[in-house]
Amino acid sequence: MPRLRHLIDLEEFTPDEILQLLELAGEMEARVRYEKATQGGSPIVPLLPYRVMASLFWEPSTRTRLSFETAMIRLGGSVVGFAETSTSSVAKGESLADTIRMSAHYTDCIVLRHPNDGAAYLASKFSTVAVLNGGDGGHLHPSQTLLDLYTIYKEFGNLSGLRVGLCGDLLHGRTTHSLAIALAAFDSECVAISPEELELPRHITTHLTVRYRKTVEQRRELAGGLDDIHVLYMTRIQRERFEDPLVYERVAHVYRLDRRIMDDAPADMIVMHPLPRLDEIAVEVDTDSRARYFEQAFNGVPARMALILVLMGHTRLDGERGANWREPTIFEGECSNRRCITHHDDNATPEFYEYSPGRLACRYCDRVREQLTLY
Ligand code: NCD
Repeated sequence: MPRLRHLIDLEEFTPDEILQLLELAGEMEARVRYEKATQGGSPIVPLLPYRVMASLFWEPSTRTRLSFETAMIRLGGSVVGFAETSTSSVAKGESLADTIRMSAHYTDCIVLRHPNDGAAYLASKFSTVAVLNGGDGGHLHPSQTLLDLYTIYKEFGNLSGLRVGLCGDLLHGRTTHSLAIALAAFDSECVAISPEELELPRHITTHLTVRYRKTVEQRRELAGGLDDIHVLYMTRIQRERFEDPLVYERVAHVYRLDRRIMDDAPADMIVMHPLPRLDEIAVEVDTDSRARYFEQAFNGVPARMALILVLMGHTRLDGERGANWREPTIFEGECSNRRCITHHDDNATPEFYEYSPGRLACRYCDRVREQLTLY
């Protein structure tokens, strides 16, 4: 019996395992395209017939939910779940842990998206089937990162030695957190372009330094500074995650990538965006040959097919061992992040791991515990 493996954080996969996942995604894309071309109808690659996925979304989603569900159906399986909590027992006050316990009995894997940081880790503790994190609050979004890496890999043929500009709401944007860490693991560099209020959270930059010896270059301006950038990754300012609406108003329209900026950008730089976009990319950029954001969204289906195949134990990765360096050792104390699931669910009892000698971080949301009470 293969051991149960979840996808809480892409960093739980080694770079070599990630490359194998990308190869598998490429294979899935080719097979879907082949089936489409030859069968004409709806292509099915029936590797997981009759298997059922629970698709549980406490937060709005278009691409993540639809592409996960499509991926499962393309693999010959089917999907149950909810796209909004008003139609499930969550509306009656059922806890995340109880919802997960039930779903694990009904189905063969669980995809969830939740507004609280660390919800995916909590879910994994109560599940007897693989849990796939479809975005937990402002924390991480690992399946998005896999499709982002797939898009970059298809373009450049490797993931190392690249300079990636992350632009927009880097504080709340979970896609940028997962991506910044994955790029560091492949020895690529991040350039963070954001207003002061929306810089990458300190626990991410600390992690990049402590674990990967990377410092992130910070910039404020988008225009005129793209000469050394291979990938420009634009993001939306995440209104729903601001505590103070006045701060949101101040930064709401701070960046806008338009034709003028693109005219000065390198000819071989590509533009990505996890979508949805608001006004941070002008629609006139859509027809620019360097725009990749719609293709990136299409890549979500093969990338998620690959993840489902591996996490459901259908496909074994060579030398698969994972990278679990976050074994919790301390089970008391309080996380300083008010959005952490530990403050919103009684089932989320405190867990901390030592991320560098003598320094602790919350196992759910990775927020660093500043005041050390270890010794
Ligand atoms: C992102 C998300 O939900 O974090 N969207 C997505 O999954 N493609 C980005 C966002 O909401 O801005």
